[in-house]
Amino acid sequence: MYTDKVMDHFTNPRNVGAIDDANGVGEVGNASCGDIMKIYLKVKDNIIKDVKFKTFGCGAAIATSSMVTEMAIGKTIEEALELSNQAVAEALDGLPAQKMHCSNLAADALHEAIKNYRDENS
Ligand code: FES
Repeated sequence: MYTDKVMDHFTNPRNVGAIDDANGVGEVGNASCGDIMKIYLKVKDNIIKDVKFKTFGCGAAIATSSMVTEMAIGKTIEEALELSNQAVAEALDGLPAQKMHCSNLAADALHEAIKNYRDENS
């Protein structure tokens, strides 16, 4: 049912945790299941230097959280804003149709964290 990449990121998630001196934090919830994802950013010179996440959710939500952190690190904030939930799901070689809604958390939480960074640093 799940691809090898989904299983890899679910069983061995990258960048789990919080960043104590984060300068952008975003949190989103999935209304349909109640799961929550929180993303912490460390941005310097317009580049995302570090990303960490905490996700209280299903395996697909954890795998997409992990993948979105890997995709965002090293990007400019403009590039990171271009990352879509669809792109994250594709980077995992897809999700089962009934789990696509779980991928909606990942890029949305990243975008919220970037918005928070911009609000706090403009
Ligand atoms: Fe809630 Fe997957 S079931 S995010």
